[in-house]
Amino acid sequence: ENCIYLESVDSTNNYAKRIAEDGTPSGTLVVADEQTGGKGRRGRSWSTPKGSNIAMTLLLRPRFRPEHASRMTLLAAMAVTCGIRRVTGLDAGIKWPNDVVVNGHKVCGILTEMNTEVDYINYVVIGIGINVNQKEFPEEIREIAGSLCLEAGKQIGRAALIAAIMEELERIYEIFQKTEDLSELYEEYNQICVNCGRKIRVLEPGHEYTGVAEGINQDGELMVVRDDTGEKVSVYAGEVS
Ligand code: BTN
Repeated sequence: ENCIYLESVDSTNNYAKRIAEDGTPSGTLVVADEQTGGKGRRGRSWSTPKGSNIAMTLLLRPRFRPEHASRMTLLAAMAVTCGIRRVTGLDAGIKWPNDVVVNGHKVCGILTEMNTEVDYINYVVIGIGINVNQKEFPEEIREIAGSLCLEAGKQIGRAALIAAIMEELERIYEIFQKTEDLSELYEEYNQICVNCGRKIRVLEPGHEYTGVAEGINQDGELMVVRDDTGEKVSVYAGEVS
């Protein structure tokens, strides 16, 4: 596979989108040691200080329909979780849809962006940011953020972790490609999802409710049983806490 290693870049997602426009092939991985303009979801920024964390973006040109591209993000979260477990022995889990947490601290965020035509995907970039050996976090996120090093109590090798995550992603993507839905993967996802079987608060634009998360279905929607009504609803996108 093709890997591009950069010492410093604005954002590996932006870089991957630029080279995608030049015809760079599917399967190319962009890795950077530092990001100066890293992007998070919902317009937030994402910090990747030099020398300690992983910032990487995988460029893919999948042949499935654009509306199914968000499934790739769920697959990436599974791969990161399995890779972290394998390399560090830490009890990593997924916070739906695609944060990876260890002991309640967020250690990884994923930002997927794409360029589509009406009925096909030109390219998808899956950006993965992992706090590996970072030891200090700004006051505002100290409660929610963590790093593998802080959780494990030792330095973690980044190259071995990247290799393990890519191996897991290959395994998972191969299963996914048989059906292009999550029918053969949702059980594994639900096993490593920290929300499953737990009471959650669903924050949707305009309203909020609580319920018990049952797990995702083959489309990647989170099935939630609402406590007050007993009715089952599915959450497609949004934030849960
Ligand atoms: C989130 O808000 O949780 C998503 C964070 C995604 C960060 C990664 S780091 C590599 C890639 N490049 C970016 O600019 N963002 C993603």
